[in-house]
Amino acid sequence: MWKKLFAWLDERLGLNDLYKATLDRPEPKGNWWNTLGSASLFLFVMQGLTGIFLTVYYTPSPDHAYDSIQYIMTGVAYGWLIRGIHHWGATLMVLVVFIHMVRVFVTASYKYPRELNWLIGVGLLLLTLAMGFTGYLLPLDQKAYWATTVGTSIAGSVPLIGGFIFKVLRGGTDISALTLSRFFAAHIWMMPAALAALIGTHLYLIIKHGESAFPDKED
Ligand code: HEM
Repeated sequence: MWKKLFAWLDERLGLNDLYKATLDRPEPKGNWWNTLGSASLFLFVMQGLTGIFLTVYYTPSPDHAYDSIQYIMTGVAYGWLIRGIHHWGATLMVLVVFIHMVRVFVTASYKYPRELNWLIGVGLLLLTLAMGFTGYLLPLDQKAYWATTVGTSIAGSVPLIGGFIFKVLRGGTDISALTLSRFFAAHIWMMPAALAALIGTHLYLIIKHGESAFPDKED
């Protein structure tokens, strides 16, 4: 019965071809350092899933943001756990993505034909950091408020376009309801969508070029 169902779907969706193209490849010759890209991917998915649960109770308005987080921590069943995973997962993701990048640099895997994937990786690192920055404001406690005040002021000090960036980030001159909704929209929708698209392209290029081998004495 399952075989028949699979054959029916395979005929229409090309599941076998998809499996062969993406997963049925020779095992790359690597070591534990080669697992950090997949660890980054795992953390991205984990952040997405826990983030979706958090949006069920979180309210992105200045009057309710702080209280909604307190409610998640004390009133919602396992809310503390979901928020804890999301909170520490964010720090861990920055760390793991960074070490993954260092590994790629040390093994010189950014060279031909992987230059484009390195550049996409730079985009991934910047987006991961930006996710951390935008997420930091959402609990709207004192730490969040002042960190965003400092962060947006630093962005505002960029020569020539600083004033523009400052206004776009804050939605005015002060940290306000507009800043919170902008950061929320960027954090839960714009940046994850951009990250997902870049990760898709990153993985496509890895499948296309294969994993680079670790340099040995001869190299
Ligand atoms: C969300 C962030 C990221 C995810 C999910 C991700 C995912 C992956 C995965 C699954 C691999 C294959 C396994 C491995 O070699 O570890 C890989 C390889 C690679 N990544 Fe990333 N990556 C991310 C960030 C970055 C960054 C920040 C850079 C560099 C700036 C980068 C550059 C590369 C390159 C050049 C390869 C090919 C390495 C080789 O062939 O040996 N990635 N990535």
